[in-house]
Amino acid sequence: MIYTDGSVFLLQGRTYGYAIRVLGNGFLQHLYYGGKVSRCDLGLLAAMGDTTAPGDDINMDMAFDGMPGEYGFFAHGDFHDPTAVFVRSDGAAVSRLRYKSYRIYDGTARVVGMPHVRKADKTLEITLKDDFSDVEILLNYTVCDDSDVLVRNAVVKNMGKIAVGVKKAFSFCLDLPNGEYSMMRLAGTWGRERCPETAPIAHGITRLQSLRGASSHQTNPFTAVMRPGCTEESGECFGIQLVYSGSFAITAEWSRNAQLRIQGGINDVGFEWTLNGGEELVTPQALLTYSCGGTGEMSRSIARFLRDRIIDPKYAYSPRPVVVNNWEATYFDFDNEKLFPIIDTAAELGIDTFVLDDGWFGKRDDDRSGLGDWFVNEKKLKGGLNTLIDRCKSRGLKFGLWFEPEMVCEDSDLYRAHPDYAITANGVQPARSRNQLVLDFTRKDVVDRIYTAISKILAENDISYVKWDMNRSITECYSSKLPPERQGEFMHRYILGVYDLAERLTGAFPDVFFEGCAGGGGRFDAGALYYFPQIWTSDVTDGYERTKIQWGTSMCYPLSAMSCHVSVCPNHQTGRTTPLFTRGAVASLGAFGYELDLSKLTEEEKSQVREITRNYKRIQRLILDGDLYRIIDPFTRDYFCEAVVSADKTEAYVVGERVLCIPCDYNRYVYLRGLDPDKVYEIEELGVASSGAALMNVGLLLPKTADFGAWTWHLKAVEK
Ligand code: DGJ
Repeated sequence: MIYTDGSVFLLQGRTYGYAIRVLGNGFLQHLYYGGKVSRCDLGLLAAMGDTTAPGDDINMDMAFDGMPGEYGFFAHGDFHDPTAVFVRSDGAAVSRLRYKSYRIYDGTARVVGMPHVRKADKTLEITLKDDFSDVEILLNYTVCDDSDVLVRNAVVKNMGKIAVGVKKAFSFCLDLPNGEYSMMRLAGTWGRERCPETAPIAHGITRLQSLRGASSHQTNPFTAVMRPGCTEESGECFGIQLVYSGSFAITAEWSRNAQLRIQGGINDVGFEWTLNGGEELVTPQALLTYSCGGTGEMSRSIARFLRDRIIDPKYAYSPRPVVVNNWEATYFDFDNEKLFPIIDTAAELGIDTFVLDDGWFGKRDDDRSGLGDWFVNEKKLKGGLNTLIDRCKSRGLKFGLWFEPEMVCEDSDLYRAHPDYAITANGVQPARSRNQLVLDFTRKDVVDRIYTAISKILAENDISYVKWDMNRSITECYSSKLPPERQGEFMHRYILGVYDLAERLTGAFPDVFFEGCAGGGGRFDAGALYYFPQIWTSDVTDGYERTKIQWGTSMCYPLSAMSCHVSVCPNHQTGRTTPLFTRGAVASLGAFGYELDLSKLTEEEKSQVREITRNYKRIQRLILDGDLYRIIDPFTRDYFCEAVVSADKTEAYVVGERVLCIPCDYNRYVYLRGLDPDKVYEIEELGVASSGAALMNVGLLLPKTADFGAWTWHLKAVEK
């Protein structure tokens, strides 16, 4: 809901309230963000706001250090890290934003060319006007009555005739009062993506960012700002994440009166966007999630929101195919003879789709050549893709194919014909990460060329699944086709090019399921989810490491978005051996599949795979639309446990794992979460029935398994 009397605006979602007011002198003051309040509380909020409202004195040095704002400006009394910086033609970058008008309309804000919230109830648009230039800033606030997520973004408009240089344009600015917050971020690297790290916020500027051209393995475009005492299960926190897959920044900064300013959007390092007269720059949407039920409730709210409003509705809640991918089975070394047994065994074991990974195209026997040549390598695959597809079909399997659309190898026909398609800066030796260069996706002709090549393969072959990979960061940030004054637009234009290709391919092939990937989980963000209903979570599939990676990823992404595979042991990345049952149980907490040569399994292992796959298909509905309860944290304990509970609380699926066993271990208990205390649940594996209250309060004995042993429990509510 959105209420206004023309000067005060109150936004309400399921559990939160958010209030803003226009002061008499035109400045926009943030009044409140937290648990739900009603219209009758606006007097109280306004009285509190009076203590920080700047007066009419034009000499307002420091006035804006204390006033909670909605969008910071630069060099005119607001000494925070600015939210936006724009430079007039005379070089002056001074700005002072005041309220001009508002409108409220149904639905979500218009965000052309970028992923965005697909549906919402109402949007409040407030227009601010700069005192010293022709720039206007539109602030959008989109609400959904049944959700805890408030959506924000900003649009910078040049209303004049002369060009303006935008040096920074963040999506939102949020001031939280009262001085005590800590911040959770999801940090990591390749193979250890999205490990939660919580720390108090010190003075100075805390900055989470990526400069890699992708949202990155290292820092996810997400933070949870937590009030004192906030835990997984209780207390207040604010989840903040960007619907954006490119280089981003999210910053936190204390103000003079112990107020915390959080803001974020497109990374401003090296950024500059020229806005000609009449043009506008639309910034990515940011999702602000309020929780008074700790980080657990925050994650559940975000997961529901992403499934309901960002992920393609055609796929969001539909069962995903159980796949077998040949990457770790063969790497580049395959031909039909090696792949047929994998396909045949997959069919026997109840698997739905065979996905052919890297190496099927051009001259691609290792990672030194071939990227960009999207035509089949007939030397390896005699008879082309059709031979493999026919084999799959004859066994009742569907077929999926790997692409890396944004890349090119110098040893490729594409590069030989169009060396200028690759990103290289004049006189700068290009970095050849993984022996490849990045295609200049700021150029429409390059995107068109790749679209034509990929769509030809998709149109000519019966392909139901695409894995879209991206295996290196952008290093040279330069386009030979952009004029010097527009080179600062490169990084944002690059990701717009990626979105353009994704939009066109998913639009032209609506029945093809697209999975995202970036050298493991290097582009796992809410923007990517708009096109890719699931994303490869990490190249590390070790049965223990994955508990941590998936725990962290679940902070702000739904289980159904996490692609999780069972691979062979010893694990290729860690060298560790874990039981097959454990690998299956951990992978079942996501979009499930295999990544090994099934034909090499023993008969006993095959029957286990058959059973694990059958179990997954039985519980998949919970992964698609259930609520996740994180119960035992593998980062701090030597156990791991999570439960997924159906919305009506009649069913639950629990997965647990013990890390290392210790001699003479004492009895330890797990207290389940999310159940209905008044319902009686039967636990299939234990053959017991207990009330939800007992399962949550008395708990269950943690199984004493061997090292890396796992267990699964199915709970079904029964008549009392
Ligand atoms: C990185 C991905 O994460 C892997 O799954 C695999 O597709 C390789 N790239 C192929 O090059």
